[in-house]
Amino acid sequence: MFMTSLFHASGGLIYHLRALRHARRLWQPYRAAVAGWLADWRPDTGHLLLLGPSGGYTLPRDFLGRFARVTAVEPDPLARLILARRFAGLNLDWETPGADLLDPVRRHPGAAILFCNLLGQDWRGTGGESARTARLARLRADLAGRSWASYHDVVSSGVAPMFHGPLRDDAATLESLLAHFWTGGELPLVDHGTHPLGAGRPADYVLWRLAPGRYHLVGWVTS
Ligand SMILES: C[S@@+](CC[C@H](N)C(=O)[O-])C[C@H]1O[C@@H](n2cnc3c(N)ncnc32)[C@H](O)[C@@H]1O
Repeated sequence: MFMTSLFHASGGLIYHLRALRHARRLWQPYRAAVAGWLADWRPDTGHLLLLGPSGGYTLPRDFLGRFARVTAVEPDPLARLILARRFAGLNLDWETPGADLLDPVRRHPGAAILFCNLLGQDWRGTGGESARTARLARLRADLAGRSWASYHDVVSSGVAPMFHGPLRDDAATLESLLAHFWTGGELPLVDHGTHPLGAGRPADYVLWRLAPGRYHLVGWVTS
């Protein structure tokens, strides 16, 4: 099924060690931007479905506490443990991913859906631009009528940007978006293939300094 190619089990131990080391300082501007986006997202339901939350390093308790029930879909057992400890006291339950990314979404027709930096994780260099755009169009169609939101890697690079955002951009082209963050010239980068997810509407962006010398441009799109 094509949806399985939207993700892979990124994260794991290295990711948790990175979070331990960098979440409080290096990741802080990114976490603050995500917190702001989530604060403004007001789905009209008491049930939230989290896809790929890892240890919840980017999820504020205040935000999750707005929901009577939170279902986390996360294959990494260590992430589950960390998440459960971090959010003890919340009504949190668990599910294992299905064969298709949207299986949990179909199981919970009344839930709002949050893709927690999951989309685009397995897209590096796979398929051409038109194939990736078609996959995202299909994803949007499958989510029609649902309340959903996603933060996701757009590009990543080892080159330090001149600007870190946050920024709202009309997202006309990926090139015009990148020009806000990096000066001209050749820019070695990985395109995570998610830029078309916004379907041409203005979207929000921020720089995530994942580790020294590793920069991810993260986008935020809501239904
Ligand atoms: C880049 S990490 C997410 C980071 C995390 N949301 C954060 O902001 O710190 C991607 C996560 O997706 C999880 N994952 C992989 N495949 C998945 C799937 N099919 N459904 C849900 N989560 C999945 C991985 O275990 C990993 O924790």
